[in-house]
Amino acid sequence: MSSRYPKDFIWGVATSAYQIEGAAADDGRTPSIWDTFCKVPGAIFDGSSGDIACDHYHRLEEDLDIMARIGASAYRFSISWPRVQPNGKGPMNPRGLDFYDRLLDGLLKRNIAPHLTLYHWDLPQALEDKGGWAEYDTALRFADYAQVVAQRLGDRVKFIVTHNEPWIVSILGYETGIFAPGIKDRKKAYQASHHLLISHGLAVQAMRALGKNIEFGIALNLSPFHSLTNDPADLAKVKLEDGLLVRWYTDSLFKGEYPDDILVHLGSDIPTIKPGDFDAITTPIDFLGVNYYSRNVVDANKQVPPPGSLGMTEMGWEVYPNGLVELCTRLKQDYKNLPAIYITENGAAYSDKLDGESVHDEKRTEYLKLHTDAVANTIAAGVDIRGYFVWSLFDNFEWAFGYTMRFGIVYIDYKSQKRILKDSALWYSQFIASEKSSQ
Ligand code: FCB
Repeated sequence: MSSRYPKDFIWGVATSAYQIEGAAADDGRTPSIWDTFCKVPGAIFDGSSGDIACDHYHRLEEDLDIMARIGASAYRFSISWPRVQPNGKGPMNPRGLDFYDRLLDGLLKRNIAPHLTLYHWDLPQALEDKGGWAEYDTALRFADYAQVVAQRLGDRVKFIVTHNEPWIVSILGYETGIFAPGIKDRKKAYQASHHLLISHGLAVQAMRALGKNIEFGIALNLSPFHSLTNDPADLAKVKLEDGLLVRWYTDSLFKGEYPDDILVHLGSDIPTIKPGDFDAITTPIDFLGVNYYSRNVVDANKQVPPPGSLGMTEMGWEVYPNGLVELCTRLKQDYKNLPAIYITENGAAYSDKLDGESVHDEKRTEYLKLHTDAVANTIAAGVDIRGYFVWSLFDNFEWAFGYTMRFGIVYIDYKSQKRILKDSALWYSQFIASEKSSQ
């Protein structure tokens, strides 16, 4: 049977540093804002932290073998900034860099393409102490860090994502405060968001200047918004929420401006924008990473929408694969300069139970089948999608939910650190093998 995906389509698995590495104080790593945040009473649902997590730092070879066993063609991981540059500026930490050296070598040896993310939320605490992302200087520090990492590791990496989900970093980190660094100040949040976007562009420029053969992009958490009713107030709410989550990022990256309606909405909380900022933000990129989990059904009176027909995941997110098709075709329509897309995250949390040496996670398998199918439909609709990454390879530290949410296709028994391939991993492995053989 001929494949519905283009030749050389990438089938990957994804993780991030703080969620899996552990080894929080090993080999010169200093605290990140998440280490600090986890100590705040009540901040993490189960009172846990990423101190040990999946102990991946000490189990690298075993974990690489698991990726190879699944047959993944790529692995998306992130670099822990405080592990490789403990003060957020100045000297690099060779022992921290060595870990990523071994990771890259291990991947290439197994024929797995490394997809590196520079920032998946673990800002060195030293930089937060100076104001974090609310300060312009942090953008300059990020560009330096990016350049040094690309210089040191860029000979073995073909894809680099600057930021993972700047919406989460700025809004949950600085406006609602439910994520690190736990600040509740909307003005700071939008200033942080602006600096994150500038830092993305400056980092791409700094890394491109090295002249290596690397493609650069950014990963956004995007989702279509639907209205619960046709009430004009609900429709207005849809437009507002779409502006805050989607257009704020896509308009700035691809049009060089923030949406007018959102600037009006923010009033005196709009960020300070300097001449030239949008030149940095619109620095051309090679791909857009889309993290897709669900749609959002909103209504002006905050009524809870009824559960979707395909069910809900443990996070309370509706299973809604068509949203991926809708979102990506809309992006293609709205932005003539839209680059290629990678689905950099997609997956589901369910409460898995160990059954001897197995985990029968039918619902996750079904979720992945529906969404890989949606990717094929999006490609058929003419969108240039080049890869898909399951979130996540492992059960891991799910931020403010601690270890209570399991997103992995590989089960982690946190007591013994035993890894057990769930049925979804076995399905994905077969799926990848059959896709590869039909190309
Ligand atoms: C995304 C994050 C990732 C994980 C998934 C469930 O927003 O990038 O680290 O938490 O959600």
